[in-house]
Amino acid sequence: MEDLNLRKGDAKTSIFGSDKMLQPAPVDKIPDGPTTPEIAYQLVKDETFAQTQPRLNLATFVTTYMDDYATKLMNEAININYIDETEYPRIALMNAKCINIMANLWNSPEQAKWKAGALAIGSSEACMLGGVAAWLRWREKRQAQGKPTDKPNFVISSGFQVVWEKFAQLWQIEMRQVPLTLEKTTLDPEEALKMCDENTICIVPIQGVTWTGLNDDVEALDKALDAYNAKTGYDIPIHVDAATGGFILPFLNPETKWDFRLKWVLSISTSGHKFGLVYPGLGWVCWKDKKYLPGSMAFSVNYLGAEITQVGLNFSRPAAQILGQYYQFIRLGFQGYKEIQYNSMEITKYIHQEIAKMAPFVNYSEDVVNPLFIWYLKPEYASKANWTLYDLQDKLSQKGWMVPAYTLPDNLENYVVMRVVVRQGFSRDMADMLLNDIKSAITELEKLEYPTPTRIAQDKSEKVTTKVFNHTGK
Ligand SMILES: Cc1ncc(COP(=O)(O)O)c(C=O)c1O
Repeated sequence: MEDLNLRKGDAKTSIFGSDKMLQPAPVDKIPDGPTTPEIAYQLVKDETFAQTQPRLNLATFVTTYMDDYATKLMNEAININYIDETEYPRIALMNAKCINIMANLWNSPEQAKWKAGALAIGSSEACMLGGVAAWLRWREKRQAQGKPTDKPNFVISSGFQVVWEKFAQLWQIEMRQVPLTLEKTTLDPEEALKMCDENTICIVPIQGVTWTGLNDDVEALDKALDAYNAKTGYDIPIHVDAATGGFILPFLNPETKWDFRLKWVLSISTSGHKFGLVYPGLGWVCWKDKKYLPGSMAFSVNYLGAEITQVGLNFSRPAAQILGQYYQFIRLGFQGYKEIQYNSMEITKYIHQEIAKMAPFVNYSEDVVNPLFIWYLKPEYASKANWTLYDLQDKLSQKGWMVPAYTLPDNLENYVVMRVVVRQGFSRDMADMLLNDIKSAITELEKLEYPTPTRIAQDKSEKVTTKVFNHTGK
């Protein structure tokens, strides 16, 4: 008897023999009827097939490798919504334990059993929460003094991550930027203080500046701010955006003071999904003490006899990341994190050193303080080359690597740089493969007889040529 379902996607039809594989995937409209899970799976999977392999993506800071047990734990928790605390009280408790661990890694002086902090979907939400808390504290104080509250501002270097622009826009808080320059590659405390006034809700130094990988000197800022606050009578605090550094400094530079050991650091945010070593969807923010977390942002609940304070922008959110983070804390311990971060740093330093040996390149900084760094074309080389770093990015992507080229922020926007971020899962062997691919790409690019389109475009921009070629490379 004829099987009318043949080629319509029934269980007997082979995936690539089905009608569906002859049709375009839906773009605007939901399909009229169902198809088999095997075919649907294949269609969706294949749409992402041609992308970079996550571990060859050296553009991202976000975790692309976790071990099998972590992956299993997270997959098993994939159907749990964190906000259903009544149903999953133990996950809420696990979250509070993670906040305690984070706060203690950052040397929190808080004595309470449960430290003040919050789970976030990433550093962006964590930064927003830190910023909003600073704003509400400032506003409350101003209102109590009968002073206007309509012109809040915050101070940050021009190396800010886009989240701070969003924060400024969404809450209508003026963002005052201290320009980064070639001479001043991180936030200059004195320049930052010149931008402060009675309406400044906080200063935001960054540990692991997205653009450069460098750290702002929080200790120097704290010292200068202490004197400034004493002189002016203000009490401007610091929120540290430690998206990257929050999980690097405690393990590799425990003696460096950038955290709650400093007087004016009242809140810190980080990404659990970056060097916290958890898959995407996790950030943390902690306050030095509950008193710095405005009551209007927090609500307390009681599970299994524990008082837990909760804060957040989103309501529903995945719980799997909390299990992933807690697993990593238990699995690795302090020593295990230290070893992984150490290896990432060593491999970064190795690539940094090898890049410096290649004739076309100069590193932006001689320091490697986080597992990432940037470099650019030597001015004397660039003036004769028929190619740019965008062409190199293109060549490397043909080998599967994603190594981004981009321009630096305001004031340095004419510098085209290239960056690598080294994460867990990137071995010395892979570094050698990358370096070899860079060398072969250069050999090919050097054979070009005519300038590439990106090179022509760069020549057209007069600013680029004058600025880039006047720079000595230091
Ligand atoms: C300094 C800094 N802050 C905030 C963020 C935003 O982090 P997330 O992607 O976790 O939201 C990043 C991301 O790279 C960052 O580097």
